[in-house]
Amino acid sequence: MAKVRAVFRCTECGTSAPKWVGRCPGCEEWNTLVEELEASSPSAAQLLGPRDKPVPISEVDTHEWTARATGIAELDRVLGGGLVPGSVTLVGGEPGIGKSTLLLQAVASVAADGAKVLYVSAEESKQQVRLRAERLGALRPTLWLASETSLPHILDFIDEIEPTLVVVDSIQTVHHPEIGSASGSVSQVRECAARLVGAAKAKGVAVVLVGHVTKEGGLAGPRVLEHVVDTVLAFEGDRHHALRLLRAVKHRFGATDQLGLFEMTEGGMVGVPDPSRLFLADRRKGVSGSVVVPTMEGHRPLLVELQALVTPSRLASPRRSAQGLDSGRLSLLLAVLQERAGFSFAETDVYALAVGGVKIAEPAADLGVALALASALAGTSLPPDLVVCGEVGLGGELRQVSQTDRRLAEAARLGFTRALLPRLAPEPPEGIAAIRVGTLAEAIEVAGLAADGPAPPPGRRNGGGHHPASTDPESGGAWPAPRLRAVESSEIPDTVPDDILDDPF
Ligand SMILES: Nc1ncnc2c1ncn2[C@@H]1O[C@H](COP(=O)(O)OP(=O)(O)O)[C@@H](O)[C@H]1O
Ligand SMILES: [Mg+2]
Repeated sequence: MAKVRAVFRCTECGTSAPKWVGRCPGCEEWNTLVEELEASSPSAAQLLGPRDKPVPISEVDTHEWTARATGIAELDRVLGGGLVPGSVTLVGGEPGIGKSTLLLQAVASVAADGAKVLYVSAEESKQQVRLRAERLGALRPTLWLASETSLPHILDFIDEIEPTLVVVDSIQTVHHPEIGSASGSVSQVRECAARLVGAAKAKGVAVVLVGHVTKEGGLAGPRVLEHVVDTVLAFEGDRHHALRLLRAVKHRFGATDQLGLFEMTEGGMVGVPDPSRLFLADRRKGVSGSVVVPTMEGHRPLLVELQALVTPSRLASPRRSAQGLDSGRLSLLLAVLQERAGFSFAETDVYALAVGGVKIAEPAADLGVALALASALAGTSLPPDLVVCGEVGLGGELRQVSQTDRRLAEAARLGFTRALLPRLAPEPPEGIAAIRVGTLAEAIEVAGLAADGPAPPPGRRNGGGHHPASTDPESGGAWPAPRLRAVESSEIPDTVPDDILDDPF
């Protein structure tokens, strides 16, 4: 009988300690040690495992290790072709995001041409899974179902059924009776995953593990799980939106820069081949504070609408709210707008968001966010056929961004005809006219949002900027139409105007 002892183990890195300490000695995270009961060390034979034979590198057979398509196009895109036999893939996501749904669809798709697949649900009964399969149209004669939480039994099923694909839903709810601690604990999760990896390699079966993630976005349980598996996919999305994003966080068989997009529907996850159209579907043209930016998700261009709203604030420190955008970047852009372009947000609450539940982390959206803010403050809309892209520096200067051609090709495809770009950006594809600007202030000027325009209605433009308010003779005090026009590159000076860089505010 193995001796059971208590250890304290870090839920982040798996480091163990004989007694509880506030800070993990391994990863130095605070409050991550939990008590676990652990059987005494495994025997030497268990530790050694099966023996591998060295062979000359040119004689290694790679045929077995080519990816096999699952038939779910967006999943195959992220996996770079499909699942590799003998590999282990971890699919992480918050509860309710749709992991079970997607994977049931995937196994059904693989089973559609007669391949044997096994779906092990350690969370739901066979009846529940069958009902879901009926709803998804995923009943297949070669799709085997088990509701089991004990790992030795699951390994037996793999031996008996000899499937080509196994899904274990979820790794946190399976347990191995030899390991003393409760299911979901660090040692259980790690040990069960390691044994499934062993089975996958030994039998050449593709294994997919479902893992729940914590509120902070980390996989619940140890991070060591990520080292054990070949591929880690993150399934994300905003609970209140139907859109789901699937991306590879780690992938031993290919690149991690692909993005899969799904829409959650009554009939399951439906691939979204044209996400830009989806994002822009509900867009209202002619509204101030709205800007369309072409962003990149890995290699995939996505057109996303950014929106900003400013309202007079009664708070001592006005509210700044960013959804789907980085709040630090929002503060930075507000500061640059104030210091380099004469827009003051000191007495306004500011709300900025990326529409559709997407998260934009790249600085390529800077100019878009800044123009949305300026447009919201000015109460003037931007032309509906304009896309904006560029990074904003602290001096108010604009920098070009990567893959401009792909971004603009996507914009052209969706009918946009003008692009506001940093001066050195490459030539846009056919159908899009480039409007080149060197600074944020110039972009604001060209877009007809300049702070030295007509006097704003009271309370609209707080602080009034640093420029004297004047009245536009043509509009008789009304808001001007956007003064946007295509600027020839010859019209643009080669250097950033001195008055912008040296503005002594
Ligand atoms: N009968 C149904 N019709 C439509 N959607 C459903 C139905 N039952 C469950 N869902 C949706 O499916 C989601 C659960 O997906 P699931 O695959 O179980 O997520 P996970 O496995 O990631 O926890 C829930 O968000 C729920 O809204
Ligand atoms: Mg589930």
